[in-house]
Amino acid sequence: MKIKNICCIGAGYVGGPTMAVIAQKCPEINVTVVDLNEKRIAAWNDDNVENIPIYEPGLSEVVKDARGRNLFFSTDVDAAIDKAEMIFISVNTPTKTYGIGKGMAADLKWIELCARQIARVATTDKIVIEKSTLPVRTAAALKDILDHTGNGVKYQILSNPEFLAEGTAVEDLHAPDRVLIGGDRETAEGKTAMQALVDVYAHWLPKERILTTNVWSSELSKLTANAFLAQRVSSINAMSELCEHTGADVNEISKAIGMDSRIGSKFLKASVGFGGSCFQKDILNLVYIAKSFGLNEVADYWEQVIIMNDYQKRRFAANIVKTLFNTVSGKKIAFLGWAFKKDTNDTRESAAIYVADYLLNEQAEVEVYDPKVTEEQIYADLDYLGSRSEEENRRLLKVIKDPYEVCKEAHGIAVLTEWDEFKTYDWQRIYDCMLKPAFVFDGRNLLDLQKLAKIGFSTAAVGRPI
Ligand code: NAD
Ligand code: UGA
Repeated sequence: MKIKNICCIGAGYVGGPTMAVIAQKCPEINVTVVDLNEKRIAAWNDDNVENIPIYEPGLSEVVKDARGRNLFFSTDVDAAIDKAEMIFISVNTPTKTYGIGKGMAADLKWIELCARQIARVATTDKIVIEKSTLPVRTAAALKDILDHTGNGVKYQILSNPEFLAEGTAVEDLHAPDRVLIGGDRETAEGKTAMQALVDVYAHWLPKERILTTNVWSSELSKLTANAFLAQRVSSINAMSELCEHTGADVNEISKAIGMDSRIGSKFLKASVGFGGSCFQKDILNLVYIAKSFGLNEVADYWEQVIIMNDYQKRRFAANIVKTLFNTVSGKKIAFLGWAFKKDTNDTRESAAIYVADYLLNEQAEVEVYDPKVTEEQIYADLDYLGSRSEEENRRLLKVIKDPYEVCKEAHGIAVLTEWDEFKTYDWQRIYDCMLKPAFVFDGRNLLDLQKLAKIGFSTAAVGRPI
């Protein structure tokens, strides 16, 4: 089966970059990415390709290659569904904020809306692909909706979870460790659908990297992968506190254990805590699923990863207060970074938000510099917590466009994101304009502490001897 038209519902961090790369690599397939959010679609269509709504290294080049040729962004969801033989669902699946499973389960409202819209609009057979991260067995619910509310059209449902990480999305999509496709291997129709998707990826990936499994394994592999990755961060962060009490250095520990090939060296960087839209959401979802089967020990095991992460963020903030002579009231704390990691403008669940909230509760005055995050986004993140009024957030926290200005007359600097440019600053100049003693709290183990100490800074970093 040859695919000529692909539709992707959801033009976000996953839908945008994944479809741009599919369009780039498969010039004979028309790829239309649709979204309800008109502003987002307008930004994807902006004449200046640098204004696309997601900042990812290399993404604007990919979009430039394919946009208008075989890559289209549109708000006409019905038309794109109708035309496509293959439909990716790449909408958001956040943690539920109401009702049963509030604060734990994934909210599948948007997924179900997509299924109902496909069922209403489709007049030809479709392959429907779960690209969003979903609870295991969601495909059964999708099938139920599609088979019972459609107009006799046949559907094949595949799971094709996305493993890209933000900041390296294009790299990850061009050369993924593996692509995972779950489908119905028991029927000829199921096999044909899976092969059609394998053929799309085979345009640029060797066959060995394209893994096929049953649907449930594929759905659950995605939650498992994120749980394992987050667990590594929480594990090394747990050790970081022990390091601070014993004189061991967490960087040296990461190196020492990472050289054991059974452990591996990646994802062992101690930090102020992991953020991002998915780790917490997916683990909470996993915990909820385990509990719903009565698997309480399994649920408790994974929940500990989140508990440790929340603790790490609080601990970092509390250490700032303690170090600044037990009070930050009326003191200026400069934040370098607000994004949840470098090379992205995404701030979802960023540790910076929670550290700022903690310090504002202690009546600190926080000033933030981030090279890619907008002022509007920073205030939206804080307001969302509902800790204080919007006016108060704007009074207590300022967003500054210049890194030297943000550090001027600060009592302390907190490094919350590992942006490379922070390493290249003139730290003598920064020291000279700060109040003394001048403190640096490196939440990313990014800066050369010895160099800073020589200049005169008092330094603290996660998991390093104090
Ligand atoms: P996102 O919020 O950036 O994008 C989702 C988009 O879907 C939004 O623009 C929204 O307007 C649109 N949408 C929602 N309902 C719609 C509907 N009915 N019709 C049309 N458009 C609709 O989310 P994201 O970060 O791209 O994540 C999407 C999914 O991918 C989630 O399940 C997430 O867990 C998963 N995922 C994300 C990442 C990541 O790095 N962000 C990586 C792997 C997997
Ligand atoms: C993560 C996974 O890495 C992707 O494979 C997955 O597709 C994605 O979640 C998802 O499902 O959304 P992402 O959240 O974009 O990707 O970024 P990561 O590089 O995983 O970083 C997550 C957080 O952990 C960041 O805040 C990062 O700073 C932190 N981290 C990561 C550490 O603190 N230490 C590390 O060693 C690694």
